[in-house]
Amino acid sequence: MALKKINPTKTKAWQKLLLHFNEIKELHLKDLFKNNPNRASDLSIDFKEFHIDYSKNNITQETLELLIELANEVDLNDAIQKYFSGDLINTTENRAVMHTALRNSKKTATPFTEGIYKEINSALQQIAAFSQKITSGEWKGYTGKPITDIVNIGIGGSDLGPKMVVTALRHYKNHLNTHFVSNIDGDHVSETIQKLNPETTLFIIVSKSFSTQETLTNATTLKKWFLNSASEDDISKHFVAVSSSITKVISFGIKEENIFPMWNWVGGRFSLWSGVGLVISLSVGYENFKALLLGAEEMDQHFKTTDFSKNIPIIAALIGVWYTNFFKYETEAVLPYSQYLSEFPNYLQQASMESNGKSVDRNGEKIDYQTGAILWGNVGTNMQHAFMQLIHQGTKIIPTEFIGFKKSLSGLTAHHQQLMANFYAQTEALAFGKTREEVHLDLKYNNQKETLAKLLPYKVFEGNKPSTSYVIKELTPKSLGKLIASYEHKIFVQGVIWNIYSFDQFGVELGKELANKHLKK
Ligand code: F6P
Repeated sequence: MALKKINPTKTKAWQKLLLHFNEIKELHLKDLFKNNPNRASDLSIDFKEFHIDYSKNNITQETLELLIELANEVDLNDAIQKYFSGDLINTTENRAVMHTALRNSKKTATPFTEGIYKEINSALQQIAAFSQKITSGEWKGYTGKPITDIVNIGIGGSDLGPKMVVTALRHYKNHLNTHFVSNIDGDHVSETIQKLNPETTLFIIVSKSFSTQETLTNATTLKKWFLNSASEDDISKHFVAVSSSITKVISFGIKEENIFPMWNWVGGRFSLWSGVGLVISLSVGYENFKALLLGAEEMDQHFKTTDFSKNIPIIAALIGVWYTNFFKYETEAVLPYSQYLSEFPNYLQQASMESNGKSVDRNGEKIDYQTGAILWGNVGTNMQHAFMQLIHQGTKIIPTEFIGFKKSLSGLTAHHQQLMANFYAQTEALAFGKTREEVHLDLKYNNQKETLAKLLPYKVFEGNKPSTSYVIKELTPKSLGKLIASYEHKIFVQGVIWNIYSFDQFGVELGKELANKHLKK
């Protein structure tokens, strides 16, 4: 069954939210904290190794209650149930959306999902066995040497998700070197080739459709390069594929036993849990890949079973809707305080913007309200020395999501203390700012009387800039799995509320079509 088609702006809750917005839009975060000394704990959620603090947002308890009323009026519960049951909620592509099944160790089957767990299990076994052979050195290249380098050839979901996870879990990596080739720009592939030895390299061609121009062009170039020193018979030792288009893969020259399956019920941008994650399993070992899945499964359970008022992805999604549709903010920034999460904003851009960048609703009508926010970001503290000026003192309000870890992986605790001191300092500076009086005192103290009047206006921080903090115990495969799954569900919830289809991506097609026309000219 499909998702319900409820225009959110026609709900009673939406009308109430509009009135409520006018009442509270001027409230300063400083006053909200003054009025409720328990605000930080009231507006936070603890779940396993996660602490989410959403108290520094321009919301009150009433805002949250009304947003939850909105979620109920659009029947979010029904949508969640359909999402996890394998209903055909990707209506425009006539498909189910089953990436959560990939990490469902309980195998809770519904009439729609019977049979798929067998396929998932056999794919997982295939990944486990293959990873073991490669990492142990049992698998030999065409000259009898073990594999040292893995090249993932893919783009979009066949690149961003696995690349983000491999980067995030570098601390857990083994001896294998991993490379990612995505761009059609020949400079990308040729730069990568410089680092490779054909005798010891394994290529994974990842393409659900196996018809993506970038991936096939790069794969063909790399195959040609490989064949400069090896023979056609050697391809089976060095090329594997992850795809749902078996015949196309075989005609590319890859053996059937070297194909890892993909299914049409897994969207590209949600596919890192499937065979698309092969490079993850190779890089950090199958046990760590399984831990990633387990973490995601725990977040799935939390999302499915927790009351909306204490549900991490739902609260995050509702706060996003509040800013997008009522404050009318256009962008949001994701700011991980971990160098390992440097690819996280890139990955999220596809997950979120390809999903919710839509302007036609589930009734086929043009939408007259805002949908998906522009998502961007970078790691702290680097971004403090780049774009944070604009967030602190610019004319635009940009809601932010800070992600930090209590424990350092490097063991350099002094670094970590400084890193997290900056994390907390930024959220405080954004929320509470610095008044004219405070600036005045500072300048006076520093004996700069003559310049005081001149400088004062520039040194004031208005504050009242919203942020949500994710404070996680430690960056592990499991906690990363939870974090990613939480964002996946946030995206889903927002799509449900906006009454759009989040799982298609027709908006990327026209450019591809026109590029082909240009090529034929
Ligand atoms: O950019 C469009 C898109 O279809 C994405 O949704 C997808 O992740 C990417 O292209 C790659 O597709 P494929 O895995 O079929 O090569």
